[in-house]
Amino acid sequence: MCRKPPGCLADSVKLLAAMTDTFNIRIEKTNHSKLAETDLNNPVFGKVYSDHMFVAEYHGGEWQDVRIVPYGDIKISPANTTLHYASTIFEGLKAYRGVNGETLIFRPQTNARRMMKSAERMCMPPVPEELFMQGITELIRLDKGWIPDKAGTSLYIRPFQIAMDPYIGIRPSDTYSFYIITGPVGAYYSEPVRVKIETHYTRAAAGGTGFAKTGGNYAGALYPALQAARQGYHQLIWTDGKTHEFVEESGTMNLMFVIDDTLVTAPTGDTILAGITRDSILQIARDKGMKVEERPIRVTEIIDAIKKGTLQEAFGAGTAATIAQIKTIGHDGTDYDLPAVESRIHSQGFLDTLNRIKSGELADPHGWIYKV
Ligand code: COI
Repeated sequence: MCRKPPGCLADSVKLLAAMTDTFNIRIEKTNHSKLAETDLNNPVFGKVYSDHMFVAEYHGGEWQDVRIVPYGDIKISPANTTLHYASTIFEGLKAYRGVNGETLIFRPQTNARRMMKSAERMCMPPVPEELFMQGITELIRLDKGWIPDKAGTSLYIRPFQIAMDPYIGIRPSDTYSFYIITGPVGAYYSEPVRVKIETHYTRAAAGGTGFAKTGGNYAGALYPALQAARQGYHQLIWTDGKTHEFVEESGTMNLMFVIDDTLVTAPTGDTILAGITRDSILQIARDKGMKVEERPIRVTEIIDAIKKGTLQEAFGAGTAATIAQIKTIGHDGTDYDLPAVESRIHSQGFLDTLNRIKSGELADPHGWIYKV
């Protein structure tokens, strides 16, 4: 539902009605594009945003006032419930410039469905898949000039949903906003990472919100991550909250190990995010005929494998991180250096296959690519 008829808008505002199956998206273009002054060849993750953003409001039990507007600040009540109680969920996905110049997005429908799961856990009304997809499609169509094409770069897409009630009592909100912002990015980690196995602090507990992409999971991880950063680590390997004996995920990415030529990763559950890059790598490994195991992994198994020389590769997998090689694992005061990154044929192969599917260079047997 568009609440402002075209006649209400200032002359400088261009209104293009993008009729879609379900939602009528009002489009207000910026008069001040920042594209010409942006260096797309060297984008830094999370610092630069494209010209427009997508917005939809939920009130009265329905999503409405669906629009694309110039990227800009959001006006919010100081009593806004999200500011106080972290009623927020988000997603991360990427658009690429294909080898033939097309605009390609990697598995956006999977993100839409995961966001609905996060919404359910956080008592939020789900953003329907059609709204999510139409928002991304129209926004990326408008800002496709922002997609960088240098190897290792992409346009990061950040959909997020926040509660909007100006109420500091504790209850689910009646009103929500759904936004999509985008920005050109390069690597999240610019070098192979040093990670510390965390056996004191906990990221997620059984029955908690660890599987959901919700702000509090990340805010709660800042303090332990900062302690580790002071000891020279880029990230943590989180372990289970009950015994700290099992490896879980890394907060910014899922964790994968190659032990004795088998790809091993922890099973997703209520404490581990169901990563889309994780899922894609498992599929690619199976397609290549590699042995894959999704099973609980003891910390002692990793340390023993390093000592015995059977741990060949360790890496993080995530949308932002893509494949982030782990060069050192710290545990109990000892740093274990892993095999040289150059020797890691399995993960280098996964990255190569993923990149070539994402750019349209390789066949897409699982229907992962969405053409805008
Ligand atoms: C992503 O990989 O898209 C994420 O949301 C992780 C975040 C730490 C950047």
